[in-house]
Amino acid sequence: MSFEPSLFNTSLISAKVQETLPEGYVLRPLKRSDFANGHLDVLRDLAYLGEITEKMWTERFDWMLKCNGTYYVAVIEDPSRDGGKIVATGTLMVEKKFLYKLGTQGHIEDVAVIGDQQGKKLGVKLLHALDHIAEQVGCYKTILDCSEENEGFYVKCGYEKAGSEMHHYY
Ligand code: ACO
Repeated sequence: MSFEPSLFNTSLISAKVQETLPEGYVLRPLKRSDFANGHLDVLRDLAYLGEITEKMWTERFDWMLKCNGTYYVAVIEDPSRDGGKIVATGTLMVEKKFLYKLGTQGHIEDVAVIGDQQGKKLGVKLLHALDHIAEQVGCYKTILDCSEENEGFYVKCGYEKAGSEMHHYY
């Protein structure tokens, strides 16, 4: 049996959130074999992806793995879907600061639930799972950017509107 690295330690996965998932669904860290489990298919509806081969995906996974303690990609898998496929994914990125007495701040990125599973509370559960990780790794707060259409979703997840997003493309 081959060893499949996970992006972070499974002990950071919330047992409470796992208990609330539909029967059989598994909340877990992203694994090195998840290209084949449809990880990109979940992200495809969120934003432009481009052509990404398995090799490219795996190189990015390995890069994230080396940034020990920075990238936490959690996924929800439905084992009964086509032999086991990811149906939701979200990233917590952890920033180490000088400010706030060397504070640690979380950033939520790339949250997506596959189309036919939206509206079944998987998104809010995934956010609770990412918040749980943030708390466990010592974040004093977590922030995110989203479109106006999605603000209501994040309010349901316990987030409050603060400030405004700025961007600069290169
Ligand atoms: N606006 C307002 N409320 C919403 C929205 C929305 N866009 N989406 C869901 N909700 C509400 C639901 O009605 C539900 O309310 P209730 O508890 O009163 O019944 C609650 O939020 C929880 O909804 P879920 O069923 O958990 O939502 P879902 O599983 O569909 O996940 C998500 C929401 C992630 C936005 C999903 O629809 C999706 O993947 N959309 C496409 C990709 C996307 O836009 N991702 C967010 C990008 S922003 C970022 O990544 C930081």
